[in-house]
Amino acid sequence: MILLSLQIITSFFLTTTASSSSLPGGFTIDVIHRRSNSSSSRFSKTDDDQLGSPYANTVFTTSEYLMKLQIGTPPVEIEAHIDTASSIVWTQCLPCLSCYDQQDPIFDPSKSSTYKEKKCDEDPNNPCRYEANYADQSYSKGAYATETVTFQSTTGQPFVMAQTTIGCGHNNSLTSPTASGIIGLDRGASSLISQMSENFYGFFSYCFSRKETSKINFGSNGVVSGHGTVATTMFRRMEKPNFYYLNLDAISVGENRVETMGTPFYSLEGNIIIDSGTTYTYLPDGFCNKVKDAVDSVVKVEQAPFSGEMLCYNTADIDVFPVITMHFSGGADLVLDKYNMYDNTGDSYCLAISCVGPTEDAYFGNRAQNNLLIGYDSSSELVSFESTDCSALY
Ligand SMILES: *[C@@H]1O[C@H](CO)[C@@H](O)[C@H](O)[C@H]1NC(C)=O
Ligand SMILES: *[C@@H]1O[C@H](CO)[C@@H](O)[C@H](O)[C@H]1NC(C)=O
Repeated sequence: MILLSLQIITSFFLTTTASSSSLPGGFTIDVIHRRSNSSSSRFSKTDDDQLGSPYANTVFTTSEYLMKLQIGTPPVEIEAHIDTASSIVWTQCLPCLSCYDQQDPIFDPSKSSTYKEKKCDEDPNNPCRYEANYADQSYSKGAYATETVTFQSTTGQPFVMAQTTIGCGHNNSLTSPTASGIIGLDRGASSLISQMSENFYGFFSYCFSRKETSKINFGSNGVVSGHGTVATTMFRRMEKPNFYYLNLDAISVGENRVETMGTPFYSLEGNIIIDSGTTYTYLPDGFCNKVKDAVDSVVKVEQAPFSGEMLCYNTADIDVFPVITMHFSGGADLVLDKYNMYDNTGDSYCLAISCVGPTEDAYFGNRAQNNLLIGYDSSSELVSFESTDCSALY
């Protein structure tokens, strides 16, 4: 999911609707730049034995991946979107001003002994409010709190993160509801991964399967290094420092390699955001249209009418489509399963790539990430991919 803006405002200024930069009491979260030492030296066997690796079960809904966590004391389970392209961790909270229907009961802070409202530095007498707005029109508004978050762990004992900053959302809207909220996993200071202790900081991996459940792993268990693993550099861009940018060199449609070079999309320092919270892959017009043309030159089936932004065909046969390979810099070539790149929408199949306009950000979405074990390593600044049958993994 793409976070458009996050405002943190003291309640004194809550009636103001201006952006945070113009609010006298507003502030934005500082980004913590922490480049730790190499993974191998940080994860010794001893660490593992003592601390274990936290993990959470994940669930697939129609287009999104959710993770199960427990919050509060006594712990209650929530199921929230896994979002590598936003920071804040929030869940719907009672009392609701306006909540959507979710599967699990809505979290009731009055029943938790560890729930503590957070105060803003500027206005210590009032709760610190936040407002998160996402590109798909989803939003959450409420108060920051500290609360205990509990994971499962490889030791078998619960892994407890005391005093985790979460957003307690009282006015919320999710375009794909049923989830209790969103778990931000980007590089921002308030994300779940940034709030983990130094031992786990910046390491996680997930394996998205279209079937049933899977796991998201943190810490040493998040390191991906099996046979056939390819890795690409993750970039940090000054103007949007929280995102995990990768650099896409080219996309091959069958044998036809379409280069980003020669298009405005070309970059050497990151041109596409890896985003677990967005379904399709989004590319800027110029390059995107070249890829679409390359697909269209191979597919010998009538295009479906009224497919809008998407490239769709009147066929129920996925075999008519060419294999797509994503070439990330450093030789990380991902030969993608056809399921990753073509979506069956009733009578037709559509390319799961959408053109976003000439200058918008590009996103590598969760459909394209299916059946890849994907590891994020903020210490070495690498994202690793290992082709995996994610449903068979656990
Ligand atoms: C990284 O670890 C090595 C060996 O453990 C140590 O010599 C070096 O000073 C460390 N570097 C940093 C930046 O902590
Ligand atoms: C909730 O937020 C929306 C979007 O900003 C706003 O239109 C609506 O009035 C709010 N609802 C309540 C009950 O405050």
